[in-house]
Amino acid sequence: MSTISKELDKLKNKYSARIKSKIVSILNRNEIDSESLYRLAARICHRHLGDEVHLRGIIEFSNYCGQNCFYCGIRADNHTVKRYKIPLEQVYKLSLQAREYGYRTVVLQSGEPAPYSPDSICRLITRIKQTTDLAITLSCGVYPAAVYRQFADAGCDRYLLRFESSDQKLFNSLHPDITLEERLQALLDIRAAGLQTGSGFLIGLPGSSPSTLADDILLTSALSLDMIGCGPFLRAPQTPLSGRPSLLLNKSTYYNTLAILRILNPLAHIPATTAFDAIDPHGRDLVLQRGGNVFMPNLTPKSYRKDYQLYPGKPCVDEKASQCAGCVRRRLARLNRPIAENPGGSFRLRHIL
Ligand code: SAM
Ligand code: FES
Repeated sequence: MSTISKELDKLKNKYSARIKSKIVSILNRNEIDSESLYRLAARICHRHLGDEVHLRGIIEFSNYCGQNCFYCGIRADNHTVKRYKIPLEQVYKLSLQAREYGYRTVVLQSGEPAPYSPDSICRLITRIKQTTDLAITLSCGVYPAAVYRQFADAGCDRYLLRFESSDQKLFNSLHPDITLEERLQALLDIRAAGLQTGSGFLIGLPGSSPSTLADDILLTSALSLDMIGCGPFLRAPQTPLSGRPSLLLNKSTYYNTLAILRILNPLAHIPATTAFDAIDPHGRDLVLQRGGNVFMPNLTPKSYRKDYQLYPGKPCVDEKASQCAGCVRRRLARLNRPIAENPGGSFRLRHIL
């Protein structure tokens, strides 16, 4: 057994079987029976992180992808996708725009690997850091450990890489190009490079079950992450999963998953991920009322948005960045949640950084 497999088993077994069966029973609760769970998650969020919501402007800077994740709308073999690569000069200008909208973080996300050399991404990072006070999060997949160190040395603050599913068999059946071990090793490399680390999983993948979902929650929690990003799986056309039913879930299970994550991870940043708006018109608002503390308005220029359709029903595809910037402020005002004025670094590390 490899070291990382042993590590995975150790992490999963960190919590007792009793906790796991309790999580499974909470996951199955309907919305009405979950009210007290949501209140507890909101209270814990309020007590540890305050009421502020951190805005992280996301730039989907390329949809080129060399991977073939079975669920993903921009997978390499989906030849119906029109591929794009936003010039890095334009990405820089979009970052300046992010700051004008009052965002304190930009998230640069793409397929995997991003179709720019690590050196040119590093030059972009350094330029943004030298000319603004923005925090930078990268999310462009698995790289050798040395590249994560290069990103960190250039000034990158954070890295997001979901492990997608903690079930090795399920993971390997959905990812022809990478194993779960390699993905988890990359997470360890990201942390070792000194980057604040974010990860999470897809909720409701075909082939998963409430038991695997509980394992996903436990693995996430055992990883002591700075940021936890999870969202509903949505069936994307032109993918091998387009005809497969997702794990049949009550809508409440999606929110219960995030509420449990908040309770087990009081110091983690938890975004109301975009896919929640695809299952509920106010999905992201509900996440913010049930333990979430981060919102990621879209900064991708409108002309590219329709080509970054990871799943159907993705919100904001027809909006401009300025409209998203106005919309998020109205949503937060309705929820009576102030916008954070700081970049929202790791709460977990705040006492030692
Ligand atoms: N390539 C980078 C990576 O894998 O880390 C970042 C981009 S990737 C498209 C971002 C996330 O989109 C994935 O981690 C995955 O969880 C999510 N995603 C992909 N297809 C999805 C689908 N059909 N439904 C919901 N989320 C999906
Ligand atoms: Fe490449 Fe989804 S398969 S980003």
